Amino acid sequence: MRIGTPLSATATRVMLLGCGELGKEVIIALQRLGVEVIGVDRYPDAPGMQVAHRSHVINMADAKALRALVEQERPHLIVPEIEAIATEELLRIEADGLAEVIPTARATNLTMNREGIRRLAAEELGLPTSPYRFASSLEEMQAAIAEIGFPCLVKPVMSSSGKGQSTLRSEADVVPAWEYAASGGRVNQGKVIVEGFIDFEYEITQLTVRAMGESGEVETFFCDPIGHVQVKGDYVESWQPQRMNPLALERSRDIAKKITSNLGGRGLFGVELFVKGDEVWFSEVSPRPHDTGLVTLTSQRFSEFELHARAILKLPVDVALREPGASAVVYGGMEEKGIAFEGVEKALAVPRADIRLFGKPEAFERRRMGVAVAAGDNTDQARERAKLSASLIKPVKG
Ligand SMILES: Nc1ncnc2c1ncn2[C@@H]1O[C@H](COP(=O)(O)OP(=O)(O)OP(=O)(O)O)[C@@H](O)[C@H]1O
Ligand SMILES: [Mg+2]
Repeated sequence: MRIGTPLSATATRVMLLGCGELGKEVIIALQRLGVEVIGVDRYPDAPGMQVAHRSHVINMADAKALRALVEQERPHLIVPEIEAIATEELLRIEADGLAEVIPTARATNLTMNREGIRRLAAEELGLPTSPYRFASSLEEMQAAIAEIGFPCLVKPVMSSSGKGQSTLRSEADVVPAWEYAASGGRVNQGKVIVEGFIDFEYEITQLTVRAMGESGEVETFFCDPIGHVQVKGDYVESWQPQRMNPLALERSRDIAKKITSNLGGRGLFGVELFVKGDEVWFSEVSPRPHDTGLVTLTSQRFSEFELHARAILKLPVDVALREPGASAVVYGGMEEKGIAFEGVEKALAVPRADIRLFGKPEAFERRRMGVAVAAGDNTDQARERAKLSASLIKPVKG
């Protein structure tokens, strides 16, 4: 393994498809290792673009545009940061030997669609999941709900961050859920998954890294489990480590190992699991850093972003926890371009707290604009500090 000099003939070039806050941290980690980074997103001045060597604005769901850009830039590695990408084209790019897709083109293709990953997990690998059915019309959805029963969830097969997702408790919720799903999905609108509601005690993200081990082969490494709170399908708070009983932890890692080994390649994965007592259900997996893993910016020796960078470059990883930590999200709270943040000095005066302001050019009411992280003697203390720190940051009109 060798790394060249950026902007020279020897450069090791990595193209990030998606330049949000997670991509920005991956890019910073790559920059520190002397990698040449090309940022790509659908709008100018995205967070990651601000720290990349150069950037391009394209529609990443447009196969032709994606292909043309890869041919122009000739990256060694392509690192998808979001799901809404022409993943069929990534399959061709990989098959043509044009670039290596992280972790694999197949993983990005399967995980962008809830149907692909759910069928793989439940039907091929036999992992425990919520009961589910797929439906392509309101009538099919009603038939699916008749089998699954209430309460249940309806989600567009192609959506993330809770978009288009509803929890249904009775007949009255059915038509609104269908309409909401049709408005919130992307690419192929109209197909939904109906999932039985899992009455879990808590949910975790099991960060799982496939990286070069001492053996010279790719091995699987597990970070400490991350606990989190979701509101309307979007994470608001996370902490590490989440205390778990040994059997639930073993089952979680067994599930994480099976799904990530099947997806293959190198990199960090966020495996989402529901837990109740000893019981564990697989929910979904991101073949990339996970938003709830922002906590690792403070809690681990290497953050999930640094681990991803190291893993994809075939460098060794260390997944050790440093100390208990937590993260809390800062929302825009308004629809406005070029906002400012007041109270940053107060947020940073909270003991053991730190913040990231992502630099997004435009705020929305529920858009994640920043995050506060904090360490503590235990996760309760860390959570209090992170929440306090986040609450002291006040987004204001510019
Ligand atoms: N079957 C289920 N039973 C109970 N709760 C669920 C179920 N499915 C989802 N949830 C809740 O909704 C949250 C979001 O669901 P899911 O992860 O499928 O959506 P998403 O849009 O992919 O979100 P993200 O992109 O933020 O991960 C879960 O973290 C969990 O809290
Ligand atoms: Mg999720």
